[in-house]
Amino acid sequence: MKIGVFDSGLGGLTVVQAMTQVIKGAELFYIADTKNAPYGEKTHEQILQYSLEITQYFIDTHQIDALIVACNTATSAAIQHLRKHYPSLIIIGTEPGIKPAIELTNTGKVGVLATPATLKGDKYQQLVNDLALEKDVVLFEQACPGLVEQIEKGEMHGSITKTMLEVWLTPMRENSVDTIVLGCTHYPLVGEVIKRVMQRDLNLIHTGDAIAKRLLSLGQEKGHKNDGKLKITLYSTDNIDKQIISHILEGHTEVKQIDIQI
Ligand code: DGL
Repeated sequence: MKIGVFDSGLGGLTVVQAMTQVIKGAELFYIADTKNAPYGEKTHEQILQYSLEITQYFIDTHQIDALIVACNTATSAAIQHLRKHYPSLIIIGTEPGIKPAIELTNTGKVGVLATPATLKGDKYQQLVNDLALEKDVVLFEQACPGLVEQIEKGEMHGSITKTMLEVWLTPMRENSVDTIVLGCTHYPLVGEVIKRVMQRDLNLIHTGDAIAKRLLSLGQEKGHKNDGKLKITLYSTDNIDKQIISHILEGHTEVKQIDIQI
């Protein structure tokens, strides 16, 4: 199986990390579209265009069988379009894990951190409306402009990042939020800081494991054997912090990096 995975930068590697635990005998190509990051502060049309160009690149260059949109923002803007344009491709997107969060919360107070574009998108509103009928839960939604840039700069533990999170999380801490949805694939990279700021036992929800399992099951339906090594090739459209990559994909040795222009 040949798998194409993309995100605006390092965030989607949190999904790739989960895939390394589950997927075997496959070739994985990852594009970090750092030239156009952050997606979360771009228009719907721009994000759609980046997503279509990257998908076409994967198909033309690597003849992929499966596409993983390892980005909540791009999923919100482009997944419907992609499914319509590429009906024979396995396509899996990333959505904020509101459903597992609603199931896990004890206090009935759930925080949602995401990019401005994801929270504004129809897809998110639809998800929340559907789930609101299932259980009486209060959602604390917070857009986090600037957080992706801090993470891309390697400033996960820097003072600006901590101050941003302190401001955004204080209302959640004061209102007994016990479960936080990480609605952007970059945010697991600041999971430890979030836990420290919240000063309590906390469920942090991200969906990398669920995506990896779904890919395995859809791949096997199409004859994938899941045997042997997973080979990963990383591309970025502009600069990227290679040290952070090694840190996220710890233990995974077969990583090659090439700079491309899309
Ligand atoms: N990692 C992406 C997401 O899951 C997008 C971050 C961005 O570029 O704003 O939403």
